Amino acid sequence: MGNTAPAARPVNPRFSSGPCAKIPGYSLDMLADAPLGRSHRAAVGKAKLAEAIDLTRQVLGVPEDYRIGIVPASDTGAVEMALWSLLGARPVEMLAWESFGEGWVTDVVKQLKLDATVRKADYGKIVDFAEVDFDRDVVFTWNGTTSGVRLPNGDAIPADRAGLTICDATSAAYAMDLPWDKLDVVTFSWQKVLGGEGGHGVLILSPRAVERLESHVPAWPLPKIFRMTKGGKLIEGIFKGETINTPSMLCVEDYLVSLKWAQNLGGLSALIGRCDANAAAIRDFIAGKDWIADLAEDPATGSTTSVCLKFTDPAIRDGAAFAKAVAKRLEREGVALDAGSYRDAPPGLRIWCGATIEAADVAALMPWVEWAYRAEIEAQG
Ligand SMILES: Cc1ncc(COP(=O)(O)O)c(C=O)c1O
Repeated sequence: MGNTAPAARPVNPRFSSGPCAKIPGYSLDMLADAPLGRSHRAAVGKAKLAEAIDLTRQVLGVPEDYRIGIVPASDTGAVEMALWSLLGARPVEMLAWESFGEGWVTDVVKQLKLDATVRKADYGKIVDFAEVDFDRDVVFTWNGTTSGVRLPNGDAIPADRAGLTICDATSAAYAMDLPWDKLDVVTFSWQKVLGGEGGHGVLILSPRAVERLESHVPAWPLPKIFRMTKGGKLIEGIFKGETINTPSMLCVEDYLVSLKWAQNLGGLSALIGRCDANAAAIRDFIAGKDWIADLAEDPATGSTTSVCLKFTDPAIRDGAAFAKAVAKRLEREGVALDAGSYRDAPPGLRIWCGATIEAADVAALMPWVEWAYRAEIEAQG
């Protein structure tokens, strides 16, 4: 039986997990209202930043008493600001099930030198939240972008916990329901689910997180870029659009365009619906196939944004080389760009399914994945 290439191609082959595909129909003309060449502290700049904060609150459904700040250095900046500013007041638990969560473990254990309890799960699995002590401060990633494993819900987190929950939600925000009453710190960046631009982080703080900021002085020095308090009081301006340093007003405009697109679609439930449909198009295709499988072992924890796949055909001789060759072939055909698994993750594919991706494109891609797999098996000889 010959291995013939599928007839249909995805209209948009951009399946990168960050920066992710722009919104459908995107054009640079949409940024025409950006106040370029103006100060971000002028009324026009401040109004744009405040609008970005307001729309973030509206679309994500962030409670009124939570603060939302636009901060430097993308999601990493937002997470590290939180770790450096909040930790040290009580015992800490670090949870990790992939590469970025492990990065936060390194921050806390090796850099801040805190004697944290570290709970790790292998790629494809998730930490058992029932074992976690939420009277400690707990740091975790909602969706493991590099393992395709997510927390299915926040049920295991008690609402009346004594510790803070610090959640890196960069590949979950706008794609999954985040239970705000269970989360004290939520971070993300713009270039993921809404297809925005890199460089800026969003830091969301619960009233309890603010209380900690105002009552706890870290034992280590804080660079200006991390400082959220002055004289023991929260710098409220940061959460109204008075950013710590200069943001890109072009990126802010781009984020506003994405947020308005999201609102027009129907808001968060519509975004979640798009991600769910995209991920389902992959899982429907791989169901019952013996040569490919979800990296997520428990379907309840399968990501709906960063779906990670592994090749399971025992005929494959060198798993890493094989997966790389498949990704390269897909790229050469122009049907999937940047679809190889993350450098630290098990070999395979990672297909971004965020809200800016069209389900028809995912559905069109999957027969190409099968074609590329068969072509590489043939090429092995
Ligand atoms: C879970 C997670 N955390 C952090 C990051 C780093 O994000 P940024 O480049 O926005 O700092 C990423 C990037 O992919 C990620 O997936």
